Formats: sequence, C-alpha cells, structure tokens
Amino acid sequence: MYDIHNHVLPQVDDGAKGMRQSIRMLESAIHQGITHVICTPHANDHSNANANDLFNDRLAALNAEAAKLELPIEIGLGAEIMFGMNMQKVLTQPFGTLNGKGKYSLIEFPRQTPFDIIHNVVKAVVKWGYVPVIAHHERYPLAFRSIEQLIKLRTDGAILTMDAGSLTGQFGLPMKRHSRDLLSTGHIEILTSDAHDDDKQNFCLAAARDEAAAIVGLPTAKEMVTDAPRRIWNGEEWPQFKAV
Ligand SMILES: [Fe+2]
Repeated sequence: MYDIHNHVLPQVDDGAKGMRQSIRMLESAIHQGITHVICTPHANDHSNANANDLFNDRLAALNAEAAKLELPIEIGLGAEIMFGMNMQKVLTQPFGTLNGKGKYSLIEFPRQTPFDIIHNVVKAVVKWGYVPVIAHHERYPLAFRSIEQLIKLRTDGAILTMDAGSLTGQFGLPMKRHSRDLLSTGHIEILTSDAHDDDKQNFCLAAARDEAAAIVGLPTAKEMVTDAPRRIWNGEEWPQFKAV
C-alpha cells in the first residue's frame, strides 16, 4: 500500500514528537503492508525555503535511521498545505508537490469553508498547473451537501481523499457515519492515514481499506490504497473524470 498523507516526519509539526516515535509509526505501517509513504508536514502561507530545508533535513535523518534498521519502506516528501492567499508561491517550493514530482499538491481548508471557495481554489490550482488533492474531504460539511458538488470538484480537476481514521471511528460515530455516506457516493478516490502518532492516530490504512470494502467492494477499496496513490507517488497522469 501507498500512503500519501501523514505526519511521520519527526519534530516538524503536531505529528511525530521524535525519531523513536517516527520509527514506531513506520514499523506499524510496514506491519500492515504499507511499502511507500509520502511525509506531509503541515505547511501554510509562511512556509518558505527555510521550511524546505528543515523538512529535507528531517527526511534525510528519517531515511538514514530507516536504512540503518533495514526497514522495508520508501519515504518521500510533500506537505499538507493550508489554503491561503500566498498559496501559489508556496506550491513552487520543492515540498509543494507530493514526492517532489511537480504535479500533485495536498491541500486542506478550515472546516467551515464554503463550497464556492473550495471550488474556486481547485480551479485556480489547476490553472497554475497542479492537480489539487483535497485532504480529508469528509471534514468539510459545506462541500458535500450534494452529489453535484462532488461532481463539480472532480470535473474541474480535484482528487478527493478521506482519512482512514474517519472511517474506522477514530473521530467518533457521527464522523464515521458521515464518512461512510460520503464514501458510498463513489467520489472518494484515495484513503490516507493522516497518521500523527504511534497510538490512537497511527497508520490504520489496512483497517480503513477493510471498512471501505464493505461499502464500495474489495477491488475498489484496494485501488484506493494501492493503484491510485501509486500514480501520485510516481507523478503519473490522473485519469480524466467524466460524470455519467
Ligand atoms: Fe494531515
């Protein structure tokens, strides 16, 4: 499996607090069949070349430790970028696109962001030459009030993702129900761990895949944690979405 959204990079945000915790998280990821992770520390309008240096230093340290321990996992870099007025500039940083491929950007919004703003950001990011990957779409209640909203976002070039923990019940029963409903629309394309620690918010991609299988079927659920995120890891083209 491939995970394109997590906070396993040590001491850069509210994720892993140190190298030991990062390694425990990676061991858990490996145990459930994850072979590739793109670290996505939080970034915002203030994230600049200094942030890029910090992220890359930590990535080098994490890769060195993983190699020393012979962990069978590949680790790349990106960021989870909070929408802001300076976003176009932030996206040009090496961490601005996932796995440094210059193509896919992971973007998050404040929870109560209106649909029209998310839609306009999607269109702007596409115009700037990137593919917007929306982080945890289940957290934006104003942006999935109807199937039409989901279709508009995808038609205009967005890829919608869901956090594994939302499906497994990590954030409570209402969020779990809500996420199951959203998943059943067929418009969520990737499941991500959004792992923050080695405890309650750890990698839980295998459990989420199994939860998803009961809703969308096992082949689709598997694709959401393998083929689809692998395209992002490799920087391959995304299949054009056509509403039926
Ligand atoms: Fe995140």
